[in-house]
Amino acid sequence: MITFDQTKGTFHLSNGQISYVMQIEDGGNLAHIYYGKQLADYSGGYRYPRVDRSFSPNPPDSTDRLFSLDTLMMEFPGNGFGDFREAAYDIRHNDGSHVTHFVYQEHQIMQGKPSIAGLPQTHGEAEAIETLCLSLVDETAKVELKLFYSIFADTAAIVRSSQLINHHEAQVSIEQFASQSLDFPNRPLDLIHLHGAWARERQITREPIQIGTKRLDSKRGASSHQQNPFSIVADPQTTENQGECFGFSLLYSGSHETIIQRDPYQQTRVVMGINSYHFNWQLNHGEVFQAPEVVIAYSDQGLNQLSHVYHNFYDQHLIRGTYKNQERPILINNWEATYFDFNEDKLEQLVSEAKDLGIELFVLDDGWFGKREDDRTSLGDWVENEGKLASGLAGFANKVKDKGMQFGLWLEPEMMSGDSDLYRAHPEWRLEVPNRQPSLSRSQYVLDFSRQDVRDHIYRQLQDLFDRVPIDYIKWDMNRNMSDVYSLLLAPAQQGEVAHRYMLGLYDFLETLTTTYPHILFEGCSGGGGRFDAGFLYYMPQIWTSDNTDAIARLKIQYGTSLVYPPSTMGSHVSAVPNHQTHRNTDLSIRGHVAMSGLLGYELDLTQLSTEEKAVITEQISFYKKHRRLLQFGTFVRLLSPFDGNDTAWMYISKDQSEALVFYFRVLAEASAPFVTLKLQGLAAEKQYESDYGVIGGDELMQMGIYIDPHLAGDYVSQMIHFKVIE
Ligand code: DGJ
Repeated sequence: MITFDQTKGTFHLSNGQISYVMQIEDGGNLAHIYYGKQLADYSGGYRYPRVDRSFSPNPPDSTDRLFSLDTLMMEFPGNGFGDFREAAYDIRHNDGSHVTHFVYQEHQIMQGKPSIAGLPQTHGEAEAIETLCLSLVDETAKVELKLFYSIFADTAAIVRSSQLINHHEAQVSIEQFASQSLDFPNRPLDLIHLHGAWARERQITREPIQIGTKRLDSKRGASSHQQNPFSIVADPQTTENQGECFGFSLLYSGSHETIIQRDPYQQTRVVMGINSYHFNWQLNHGEVFQAPEVVIAYSDQGLNQLSHVYHNFYDQHLIRGTYKNQERPILINNWEATYFDFNEDKLEQLVSEAKDLGIELFVLDDGWFGKREDDRTSLGDWVENEGKLASGLAGFANKVKDKGMQFGLWLEPEMMSGDSDLYRAHPEWRLEVPNRQPSLSRSQYVLDFSRQDVRDHIYRQLQDLFDRVPIDYIKWDMNRNMSDVYSLLLAPAQQGEVAHRYMLGLYDFLETLTTTYPHILFEGCSGGGGRFDAGFLYYMPQIWTSDNTDAIARLKIQYGTSLVYPPSTMGSHVSAVPNHQTHRNTDLSIRGHVAMSGLLGYELDLTQLSTEEKAVITEQISFYKKHRRLLQFGTFVRLLSPFDGNDTAWMYISKDQSEALVFYFRVLAEASAPFVTLKLQGLAAEKQYESDYGVIGGDELMQMGIYIDPHLAGDYVSQMIHFKVIE
C-alpha cells in the first residue's frame, strides 16, 4: 500500500480507495502533493510550479528565486524560515531562536502500526495496515521530526501523528506541536464544523473558507461542548450524497485547536492538534514528545459516505475490549427521575418497574456517596451515603442483581468538592495557582490528575468500590472545565505542560482501570456531551450524548454527532414531559423514536407512568431488543437535515441489506402542507422489501421513495417504518 519512488522522491500511499502523495522537494523539503480518490500511479507531473513570488524568501541552499517555502504545499510547515503562513510547530531553542528547518533524512515503511505510548490510538491486524515513518531533521538545532502515516486496507482514511525528538544537549521548549497539517491547492472549499454549548452540543455550521485564518478550538481542558475536535473540508457542491470531502478527527479529549488558513494564493491549510494556547513542553536531551493521532477520512460521495468511513473505522479500529461490536444494554438512569432526592425504597421501586418493562441495566446516578444531598459536596469521597442506601452500596447492588438486572454506577473521579473529606485532607490536590483562590464551577475543583499521588489515591478508592460491589457499568462524568491550570509539583517553566500532563495522567488511569475491569461497560460523560471525542472512545465505547433529553433538541444534536461518531456510541434516553431542559411537551412515541436512534435508555420516574404509557414503553423496549443490532451497528444514513427545516429523517440498513429502519420526524404542523417524499438509500436494488407500504422493490424505494404518512397530525410527530427483504 505504500511505495517510494527514489528517482522522483515521491511517496504514494494507496489502498484502492484513496491516494496520499508527498514529495521530497528541493533541499529536502517535504511537500504535499495530493490527497483524494485513488490514483493508479503517480507520474510525478504535479510538481509545484516555479514562480518568483516577491516577498517570499528562498531557502539559503536554493539555486534560484523561484522556490519558496512561503508558497509550497508543505507536509508539516514551520514558521520563521520563510513560510509566513500558519505553522504546525513552534520550537524555542536554547539560544532563544524560533527558527527550525526540517529536511528529509530517511524513511521506513512498516507492516502494521506502531503503538503510541500513553495516548488513544486506532488499531488493527498488522497484515492489513502499513505505516510510513518519515524522519526529518534540523542539523543545526539537532532536533528530529518523525511523521507517521498509517493506511488500513479497508478504510478510506489516513491516520497521522507526529513526534519530536531532541538530540541537542540543551533543552528545547515546544510552544506548539500539531498532529498534522494538510495543504490543499487553490480550489473553493467549505468548512463544516461541530460547535455548541451545554445541552446544545454538536450543532453543524457550514461556511466558505475565505482568505485569512480561522481558529476552532477548546481551551477548556476538555474536548468540550463548545467545539468538537472534528471538522470537514468539502467542495462547495458537496451534499450528503455527492461530492468530495475530507474529515479531520482528533483522538484527544483535552484542549485542542484546528487552524484553517486560506493563503494569498488561495491555497488552504488545515492544522490540527493539541491547543497551543498556554502550552509549552520542556524537552530534554534524548526525550520524545508524541502528538495525538488524527484520522483524516476521504469521501467522493458526500458526507454520508464520509460518516460511514468514520463509523466503520471507529467501531472496528478504535473501540476495543469486551463491548466492541457487542450489543449494549437498555438502561434506566435515576437522574431525571429523582435527582438527589432518593432513598433505597425509591430506588427499589424504580428497579422493580424497570424490570417489568424489560429494562436490563439500572444506573444509580449522582448523589449516592459521601454527604451528597445536592451538587455542593462530597466529590472525592467515594463511599456510600448510608442514610440513602440502608443496605450499603453492595447490598443494594445485589438486590438489583437478584432481580436479574445489571447494576451501574455514576462517578466523577477527576473532581473534588470544597466540602469533602478529601479537600479537608488535601486542599493542595486541586489545580490552583499559588496565592490565588481558584475558580469554582458547580461548587467543585478539578483534581490535579497530572500528579501520580492524586491518581493513586482516587484509584485506590475506585478499586475498593469495584472489588466489593458487583458493578457492570460505570458512567464517568466531568462537570466542569479546567481553570487555574497549574500544578504545585512542577517548576514554573513547566506550567505550560500541566493541561497535557493531566490528559496523559487521565489516559494512564483509564487504561489501567478499563483493562483491569474488562467486564465493566464504561460510558463517558461531561455534563452530557462535553467530552464526546474519538480519544475518549478508545477507553469508553459509549458516551452520554447530551444532558438535553428533549426529543426535538436531540434531532440536531444526534444528527450533528452522527457526522463522525457511530450510533453505537451515542447514549440516548426517553425522559419525562414537560422536558426538564426545554419544558417542551412531546409524545412518548417521538421520544422513543429519537432515543432508539442511539443506545436506548430511560431517564424518568417509572413509578409515575400510567398503564397506557407502560404499554407503549414495553412495546418500545421489545421492538428495540428485536432490532438492536441494526440500530446500534447498522449503516446509518442521514436523509433530511434538521438544520435545513422542519423535517428530519434518517435510516439504518443492516450490513447484509436484508433489513432497514427508517425514521421521519416533523417539528411543526402546517396546514395544506406539501407531501414529503423520502428516497431511501443503501438497499439492494434488485430485492423486494416488505413494510407497511406493501412489497416494494429496493430500486423503487431508492429511486421513487415513499410518501410520509400525510395524516400525521400536530406538532412533534414521527413515523418509523421497518423494511424486511423477502427472499
Ligand atoms: C451531568 C450528567 O450529564 C447528568 O446525566 C448527570 O449525571 C449529572 N451530571 C449528575 O450530576
